[in-house]
This record gives sequence, C-alpha cells and structure tokens, in this order.
Amino acid sequence: MTIDVHSFYTPASFERLKTLADTKETPFVVIDTNTIKEHYIDLKNGFPIADIFYAMKANPAPEILTLLRDQGANFDVASIYELDKLLAIGNVSPEKISYGNTIKKVKDIRYFYEKGIRMFASDSEADLHNIAKQAPGSRVYVRILTEGSQTADWPLSRKFGCHTDMAIGLLVLAKELGLVPYGVSFHVGSQQRDIGAWDEAIGKVKVIFERLKEESGIELQMINMGGGFPANYISRTNDLATYAEEINRFLEEDFGTNLPRIILEPGRSLISNAGILVSEVVLISRKSHTALNRWIFTDVGKFSGLIETLDEAIKYPIHTEKSGEVEDVVIAGPTCDSADIMYENYKYGLPLSLEIGDRLYWLSTGAYTTTYSAVEFNGFPPLASYYV
Ligand SMILES: Cc1ncc(COP(=O)(O)O)c(C=O)c1O
Repeated sequence: MTIDVHSFYTPASFERLKTLADTKETPFVVIDTNTIKEHYIDLKNGFPIADIFYAMKANPAPEILTLLRDQGANFDVASIYELDKLLAIGNVSPEKISYGNTIKKVKDIRYFYEKGIRMFASDSEADLHNIAKQAPGSRVYVRILTEGSQTADWPLSRKFGCHTDMAIGLLVLAKELGLVPYGVSFHVGSQQRDIGAWDEAIGKVKVIFERLKEESGIELQMINMGGGFPANYISRTNDLATYAEEINRFLEEDFGTNLPRIILEPGRSLISNAGILVSEVVLISRKSHTALNRWIFTDVGKFSGLIETLDEAIKYPIHTEKSGEVEDVVIAGPTCDSADIMYENYKYGLPLSLEIGDRLYWLSTGAYTTTYSAVEFNGFPPLASYYV
C-alpha cells in the first residue's frame, strides 16, 4: 500500500509540516494550525445555523484554543483541568463554555459554577441533584443513548446517555429542581461513517421535544449534536459537505424551519488532518528465517499517543520516503509491553527497502494523540508536539 500524502494535506500544508519536522528529533506530532482554521470555516459554512463548541479533549494545546477562540468558537470542556487550561488563554467568556462530561465530582460542578459556567450535560438523577445543589438555576441538557456503535470507528455510546423515557423524566426533574431544562444532546460515536446515525438520533430528540411540550408544558430550546464528524484515515468517508447537507436535511424534516438552537461539538474532524506524527524505525526483524512478514518496531506506540490503535480501531495512513516492493508488516511500539502492537491483523505493507533509522509519517494524527500519551511508561517521555 502506498499512501499519497497529497490526498491528506494540501501541498502547502505538507511542506510547512515537513519543513518543521525535518528539524526535530522523533517522536513528535507537528500541527499546522492553518488547516484547523480551514476546517473550522468549512464546518461553519456547512452548518451556518450551528454554534460550534470545540471538544478540547481532542487537543487542548493553547495554540489551538487561541486560534479557535479568535474564530469565535465556544468550548466543550470535560474537566476542571481542561477548564483551567482554557481560562488560562484569557478572553473566553463563561457563556461560551459547556461542562459536557456527564461524570463529574460535586466539587467540580461547584468549581465550574464559581467560574461562571451555567451550562451542564447530564444523564442521571444523581448528577442532576448535584448540579441543582452546586450550580443552582443553570441550564441542563440531557444526553441520550444513540445507536451507531457498529459504524463508528471509535464508539462512545453505552457509557454515556440514557434512554428516551429517562431523558424525559430527567428534564422534568430538572425543572422541579429549579434548573432550566435546556435541551437534549447525543453523540453518534466518533469517526461515524454512517450519516444515517444522525437521522435516527434527531428522530429521538424530536420525540422528546414533543412529549415534553405536550405532557409537561416544557419547551426545550437546544439540540447538541455532539461530534462524530470524520477525519481522513485509511477507511475513507464522505466529505464534510455531504455530512452537512444530509444532517441539515434531517433537522429540517423533523423540526421544519423553526429550529431550536443547534450546537455541534467537533473534535477529531477539526484537528486530525492538521497533524502528522513522526516516528523513527528502531528495529526491523523476522520471527523465523522463513517468516513472510517483518516486524517494524518504531519509537512511538500505544503508550505514547497511538492509543486509538486499540483493537486496530483507527487505521492511520502511514507514509515513508522509501519506495519499491512492499511486504506485509506488523507494526509495534518500543515498550516492553506486548500490548504495544499497533497493527497486526490489518495488513500494512511497507517497502522492503525500509531501514532502521528511517522515518514513518503517521498521517491525520493531530487529534487524540498528545494527551493520550503516558507520562513515563518504560521511562519514555510524553509525546512532544510542535505547532506551525
Ligand atoms: C461530549 C463529547 N463531545 C464531543 C466529542 C468530540 O467528538 P469527535 O472527536 O468525534 O468530534 C466527544 C469525544 O469524546 C465527547 O465526549
């Protein structure tokens, strides 16, 4: 398999990334913030009606937060630590922040409230009671369970969200507790390849809006459609414009022109294709004299940023500057842990001319890499990152 880098990056962007990469010791991620800006503008154009809350868990680097703040973005924040990081860049008003994690400590809810945040996600009674106590009068939106795990490369449902009936009960309870029952959220799963997953989820939301109005006189004001928009990996997807066109149509079919506030929480789709992780081949071996595939050990692995290769879920395109005949390889990381194998079942082919010391370019690795890196496993330092 040969990878054409130009189907993942514009020539100008690849040039910028490569120029910086050539000056650094591996392993590291380089990120072109220009690309993030372009993706942000594309998303705004695709969903002109939506407010974008960047899911900063994808990559919370100050360079990215500042850029998106200056573009007018809002932020989906998962913890007090992310909140501190975000507030540290300055000039982010609390109305632009949502506490999107349904799993939170009582004192963390209070911390957000004290910093002025008034929008909270929830999916359980206990959490709702905590929000009512620690963040009185705040707006809450309830996350529902959505299908789509089969077609999302990195599924999220099951752990988060609740059934429709429970969501209705929670929004009624929110009102009783003095909170503002603000809306409904869902996440169809990250890297969702089936656009129909949004159709199903929006259909469920519509039922909740109608039932709450009819049965309890509650008029919800917001739908948070989460993330799930795709990045370019080996398994290609439809482009963002197609996602936008279809999802806007689903919204219109269910809600007509009288749409509630629409929120999106993109992470992967904004950041992934802006980055390249660069590693170096540490060792090449065969397990027997007659083995038909080689093991390529590189200086980055599951514990240094490539955790989304778990179960080979995310298949990053890998580029090398070597060419010629290719052979199937197993690709593994540098630690003394046998779980540190990125790809064994899915057959990557790399050139037979690849040698120890050559660089591997892991494309589309701007999101969910740097922060997933272990602090000191086997003594290896966390993954470095540089921003163009
Ligand atoms: C609540 C929430 N919103 C948004 C996202 C971002 O999703 P994606 O990276 O698929 O855009 C996530 C990802 O885990 C999430 O948990």
